[in-house]
Amino acid sequence: MKMRFCALLFLIVVITQVGPSAGSYEYFAMAQQWPPTLCVNGGCTIPKPVRNQFTIHGLWPTNISQPYPEFCLGKKKTRGGFNLNLLSQLQPQLQHEWPDVIHGKDLDFWEKEWNKHGTCSLSKYTQLAYFQRALSIKTEINLIDVLKNSGIVPHKTNPYDIGQIVTAIKSGNKNLEPAVMCTPPTRKSLPYLKEIRLCLFPNGSTYMDCPSASRVINCNNSKNQLLFPA
Ligand SMILES: *[C@@H]1O[C@H](CO)[C@@H](O)[C@H](O)[C@H]1NC(C)=O
Ligand SMILES: *[C@@H]1O[C@H](CO)[C@@H](O)[C@H](O)[C@H]1NC(C)=O
Ligand SMILES: *[C@@H]1O[C@H](CO)[C@@H](O)[C@H](O)[C@H]1NC(C)=O
Repeated sequence: MKMRFCALLFLIVVITQVGPSAGSYEYFAMAQQWPPTLCVNGGCTIPKPVRNQFTIHGLWPTNISQPYPEFCLGKKKTRGGFNLNLLSQLQPQLQHEWPDVIHGKDLDFWEKEWNKHGTCSLSKYTQLAYFQRALSIKTEINLIDVLKNSGIVPHKTNPYDIGQIVTAIKSGNKNLEPAVMCTPPTRKSLPYLKEIRLCLFPNGSTYMDCPSASRVINCNNSKNQLLFPA
C-alpha cells in the first residue's frame, strides 16, 4: 500500500515536471528537404524510392524568437525514450518519406528528430502520433505536385525566381506563406533550393503563415533566383 502511494506520488511529480516544459512552443514547422540539393556536391546518393520526392527533415515545435525548445526530456540519447517498436507499423512508410538521405542511417535520424524536437510536443503527440502527423502533413500538401501544378519542375540548369517558387507553394496551401531555405549562393553558383517549411498552429492541425522573420533563408542573391536541381 505504502509502496503504491509512493509510486503514485512519484508519477505525479514526474508528470507535473515534464508537462509544462514539454509543451511550451508557439508553432510547428514542418521541414521537407530536396534530396538532389543535399547530394549536390557528391556527398551522398539518393535512394531510388525517393527520387523526385521531397523527404521529411522534421516536424519541429518551435518559437518565433530564439531560443526554441529542444531535447525536452534531456539531451542523452536514451532520455527521449525513442522506441522503434512503437513505429513498426509505420516503418516502411517512414523509410520512403523520412529517410536519412545524407548518411543512410534512418533509425538514428528518426531517433534524433524525436529526442530533439518530438519530445517537445509530448503534451500534444505520443511518439506514434508525432510520426503519423508528420507523414500526414506530407500527404496533405504534396510539394512536388504543388510545384508541378505551377509549372515548376526540377531542372539541372534553368533557374527559377524565388518569388515564383513561393507563389506556387502558397497556391497549394490556402495562400499561406511557407519558408524557403537554400544552400547559400557562391560566386560561381546561384543558391540551391534545399528545404521548404510549412507552418502550423500549436494544435498541429491548422496551417498558418510561417513567421516573417524566417521566410527566406540563405536564398537571397542579386538575381533573386535559385536552382531546383534535377
Ligand atoms: C517558447 O515559447 C513559449 C511560449 O511563448 C515559452 O513559454 C517558452 O519558454 C519558449 N521556449 C524557450 C526555450 O524559450
Ligand atoms: C488550431 O488553432 C488555430 C489558432 O488558434 C485555430 O484557428 C484553429 O481553429 C485550430 N484548429 C482546430 C482544428 O482546432
Ligand atoms: C530576401 O528576398 C526576399 C524575397 O525576395 C525579401 O522579401 C527579403 O527582404 C530579402 N532578404 C534580404 C535579407 O535581403
